Amino acid sequence: MMGIPQPAFYIFKCQQSAPPGMPKPSCVSQNNPESQQLMQHLAQTLMQKGIIATVQPIQTSCLNRCQQGPVMLVEPGHTMYVGLTKEKIDRIIDEHLIGGKVVDEYVIDAAVWGDPIEPATMAR
Ligand code: FES
Repeated sequence: MMGIPQPAFYIFKCQQSAPPGMPKPSCVSQNNPESQQLMQHLAQTLMQKGIIATVQPIQTSCLNRCQQGPVMLVEPGHTMYVGLTKEKIDRIIDEHLIGGKVVDEYVIDAAVWGDPIEPATMAR
């Protein structure tokens, strides 16, 4: 039976912006004008490439890797991309989402992205 296909990917793009004057970094920042255009760039490029129906971009709040921002998480795969620019997003779309190969050079450092802890080991 053919149903409505699930998306191949979800992209969680952090859209958190810190209030003016706040010292903490944030993924959308007045100090980085390009950061304010990345979500729109992502969605537009997915549309232009014709893959918006199967790659769903989602705006999220903070993903707790603010020092590495702007960030976005690609699922499935749990791939956290950091230090984003429009150019990097273009490469991620072409090489990872269409080409099937993670763009390793834009992936978060393993030192701040260790293996997950199984909830079953923490649950009380
Ligand atoms: S503000 Fe984007 S990860 Fe925290």
